[in-house]
Amino acid sequence: MYQFTINGVVYQETEDENLLEYLRETLRLTSVKNGCGEGACGACMVLVNGLAMRACLLSLSRLQDKTVITVEGLSEREKEVYAWAFAEAGAVQCGFCTPGMVISAKGLLDKDPEPSAARIKEALRGNICRCTGYVKIEQAIMMAAQALREGLPVPTDVAAGVGARAARMDAEAKTLGTGEYVDDLKVPGMLMAAVLRTPIPRARILSIDVSAAAAIEGVAAVMTAADIPGQQKWGHLKRDWPAMIGEGEETRYIGDALAIVAARTKKIAQEAVRSIRLEYEELSPLLSPQESLADTAPKLHPDGNVLSRVAFARGDANQAIETAAHVVTRSYHTPFTEHAFLEPESALAVPGSDGKLTVYVGSQSVFDDHHGIAAILGLPGEQVRVIGKLVGGAFGGKEDLSVQHHAALLAHKTGQPVKLTLSRKESMRVHPKRHSMEIELTTGCDADGRLVGMRARIVADTGAYASLGGPVVQRACTHVSGPYQIPNVEINGMAVYTNNPPAGAFRGFGVPQSAFACEMNLNLLADMVGISPWEIRYRNALEPGAVMATGQIADASTGIKETLLA
Ligand code: FES
Ligand code: FES
Repeated sequence: MYQFTINGVVYQETEDENLLEYLRETLRLTSVKNGCGEGACGACMVLVNGLAMRACLLSLSRLQDKTVITVEGLSEREKEVYAWAFAEAGAVQCGFCTPGMVISAKGLLDKDPEPSAARIKEALRGNICRCTGYVKIEQAIMMAAQALREGLPVPTDVAAGVGARAARMDAEAKTLGTGEYVDDLKVPGMLMAAVLRTPIPRARILSIDVSAAAAIEGVAAVMTAADIPGQQKWGHLKRDWPAMIGEGEETRYIGDALAIVAARTKKIAQEAVRSIRLEYEELSPLLSPQESLADTAPKLHPDGNVLSRVAFARGDANQAIETAAHVVTRSYHTPFTEHAFLEPESALAVPGSDGKLTVYVGSQSVFDDHHGIAAILGLPGEQVRVIGKLVGGAFGGKEDLSVQHHAALLAHKTGQPVKLTLSRKESMRVHPKRHSMEIELTTGCDADGRLVGMRARIVADTGAYASLGGPVVQRACTHVSGPYQIPNVEINGMAVYTNNPPAGAFRGFGVPQSAFACEMNLNLLADMVGISPWEIRYRNALEPGAVMATGQIADASTGIKETLLA
């Protein structure tokens, strides 16, 4: 028997259990978030005997006679102060990290009511925020400290009108953990889902035997590709991404789903996934665009291994470069990048008594989700409703279907609500990344450092599926000339399928990669001309009325020179 106190209430439990799961699932204290489940992010921070600790690393057996406090257990005064301070300082964006930050702050302020900035930084060393940066969070804690110490009243006036300073409308709910992310939802009769994924990136699936899984007590449904009632494949612009890979088909990356399970508990669903018998033939994966473009490479999609091409030119780049006073040619490589949003993907699908299916999502476009889910279920659009809940960070990484369609398929099949939440590991395995790119760039200028020509070849690894790869590569190409006037350009780009994770949207949408290459060449040219990196940028900056590499005319809002001067 384990006895402990949580938010002032004494509990006794006979079974040992992970504290995070116990707080969220049994006590429904959902201010405590699961960002990683393995002690890395701090979203699950709670106070144990006054010390900030990560609930995901604790079990009930370690809490004997101890006292636990979550944000729900703060006094009304503390709640009021923290909600005001975090909103006022602008310290809340997606909010998924915020209750954990508040707990670390309380742990500090209870001991040191007037902390230095260094002490606040020290107190937050176990909390990751992916959106806000830490300056505003530190400011919020300073403000909260002063208000609590001096008993200051919390302003209650609501700003209104254009130009007035207004608090973020959902800041209070996010700070106090009452705002709902999908994984915080629980409805009567809810089943939990788990997914069997391919063990290797490229495999020919010979057979999927789900009989043992289906026979497990508590399993409500096991589905494979053969059970999909509607369209097998989905995608924003190109429908090339299968909801599941079936027998006789080939997987394309390590996130590919082979079977989905709904069961009474997550544990049972995971056990069922482990008992699915899979036979497959191992195939060599294509791990780079170079491998995929080789003549002997197998076709990863029926149309071949090139998803899209971009080509445009202005003037005569070759001649301009040949006669330029200074020329730089370099090859650049940028890697895949993970979005690392703090909230792993989650979806809850609920069949209604009217025959309609409601899907709660934490993704970036309810409309895209709606189209995809309805198509895969083979239902008319009016039979599916998609409701967006709070999004715990996305940055482009939650544009595609990841869990929404799987939860919907299982709910449709069982007639019961089904929730599917990915672990951090699965999340990283499944969702698209920032494109890795190979960029060959030649830039030429005259003796004064005025740019005369640019030649670029950009090859992007778009991974297993299209996602938004086409437009991302287009943007990388159209922006490779940077905010500069270059009269002669020749730009070519392509997005190439590989067996890497799909690449898609990510802040900057292809531009960070090509801007990096453009700016590096500019620094080298400045050296050759003998002027500063600032000067070469100023001499070439776009101005209103100037023509860009694509032929677009810079409008009156163009302020590159003003920015450089500032
Ligand atoms: Fe516990 Fe991330 S540290 S969920
Ligand atoms: Fe901190 Fe989003 S506001 S992770």
